Amino acid sequence: MQNKLNGILATNGFPENKTKMSVYRALAEALMEAVLSKQLVKGEKLPPSRVLANDIGVSRSTVIKAYEILCIEKYVKSVQGSGYYVEDVQRKKIKHRLLSISTNGSRPEISERGKRFRKYVNLMNRTSGGGTAFRPGLPPLDIFPVRQWQSLTNRYWRDVTYSEMSYGDPQGLLSLRKNITDYLRIYRNIHCHHDQVIIVTGSMHSISIIGDLLIDADDQIIVENPAYANAIAIFKSLKAKLLAASIDDEGIDIKGVPLSKVQDPKFIYTTPSNQYPSGIKMSLDRRLEVLEWAQKHNCLIVEDDYDHEFSNWEEPITSIFGLDKSESVIYLGTFNKLLHPSVRLGYIIVPPYLVNDIRASLEQTLRFVPPMNQKIMSTFIEKGYLSTHLRKVVEVSNTRRSYFIDQFNRELGAIMSLRPLTQGLHVIADLPKSIVDNELAKFLTENGITVFPLSKYVVKGNMGNGLVMGFSSVDKASIKSKIREMGALCRQFIKHQQSQ
Ligand SMILES: Cc1ncc(COP(=O)(O)O)c(C=O)c1O
Repeated sequence: MQNKLNGILATNGFPENKTKMSVYRALAEALMEAVLSKQLVKGEKLPPSRVLANDIGVSRSTVIKAYEILCIEKYVKSVQGSGYYVEDVQRKKIKHRLLSISTNGSRPEISERGKRFRKYVNLMNRTSGGGTAFRPGLPPLDIFPVRQWQSLTNRYWRDVTYSEMSYGDPQGLLSLRKNITDYLRIYRNIHCHHDQVIIVTGSMHSISIIGDLLIDADDQIIVENPAYANAIAIFKSLKAKLLAASIDDEGIDIKGVPLSKVQDPKFIYTTPSNQYPSGIKMSLDRRLEVLEWAQKHNCLIVEDDYDHEFSNWEEPITSIFGLDKSESVIYLGTFNKLLHPSVRLGYIIVPPYLVNDIRASLEQTLRFVPPMNQKIMSTFIEKGYLSTHLRKVVEVSNTRRSYFIDQFNRELGAIMSLRPLTQGLHVIADLPKSIVDNELAKFLTENGITVFPLSKYVVKGNMGNGLVMGFSSVDKASIKSKIREMGALCRQFIKHQQSQ
């Protein structure tokens, strides 16, 4: 190992302690403490004596003496011709401890804002494995073109210049912004200048940036009811006052919002292509109504077009951004749904007057999205790979939806009824009143089938009792077996409930 140990040694009292004892002893003690506190772990190789001596400014013989002490005390073992390797030593074996860490248990309090983040967020366990069935919002992950992405990554590292590895523009790579404007012009009939495009890590990131930029405590914003729960959590954390607008079969009913309650709203947060989670597509009349309403009340519209590629494939609608003539719409798009959530790439299109404010906000937080990801994404679009992938994911997703619906109705149709949703990446099953969605969702998730309760998306009132489920990321064979498992679990849940 050629690692520099100066930092570890300093944490453990070297070189300060060299005034209290001989240098080699102080060095040995610091290394012992590092082993005991697992800063150096079993099997790790210590630097060659010459390297360490040079790094810490002592003679080689001092290091050799310290290593010998470690060997004698069995903190390391010496392997002939190879070096010194750390052994597994438990703290109880120690006879002498150099440093003891003490706290009186008190820590600085986190801010009120920090506390609100914790309060409104459900920290899911995302590391437990557990597969993807039937987590809402995932695309067909198994058909992501890994090889193409890999070859673009190799190409990036072959061609990258040193200056490209330096600090980048917070707004994002010019080539990617240009390619996104082309992509949106073709696929979404959106016409904008690349200077209005800002590259972010996804729609959640966009919502957070916009929230930070526009919301002061007690500012009013209008949200759909039900709505994307994570966006609502951000708005609440920022202390916004939420005014809920209901959803009917044409989408958001903005005229239904009582004017007596409207107090200079900052923006309307809406998902017109595929209302989340109800799956309603907003009618043209409603999109125009929302625009007119926003202009009249001098507020912005935040159009979250999170899965437009899927929801606009069969029956495309014009975005509100595309209908707007007054620069009152902020448009959010993401590649995390189309490609995969861990690609963490999205974009915001903003009215020109907001561009520099958002750049400043990014400069102080993320700084910029890694240029490597941006460059690869840009070439992915330029080479036409995105268009090809788009066709494939939509086709696979549609096939899986039909199969899911068919299998679900057979297995679970007698217990809950699926809404006739034919677009997007999720479906909803309404539950009878006797089954509480939260409880059933928890039970299923604990037993390996991830579903979200519909009630989690309700902003106000009591208007949803069902399950929100994704199907796209699960292949047909797994859909069949997982639905069967889900059927058995639901029957077990109901039986248990009835016996109470
Ligand atoms: C309505 C809506 N907006 C935004 C997002 C977040 O997307 P991203 O992964 O790009 O942050 C999601 C994810 O499920 C969503 O459903």
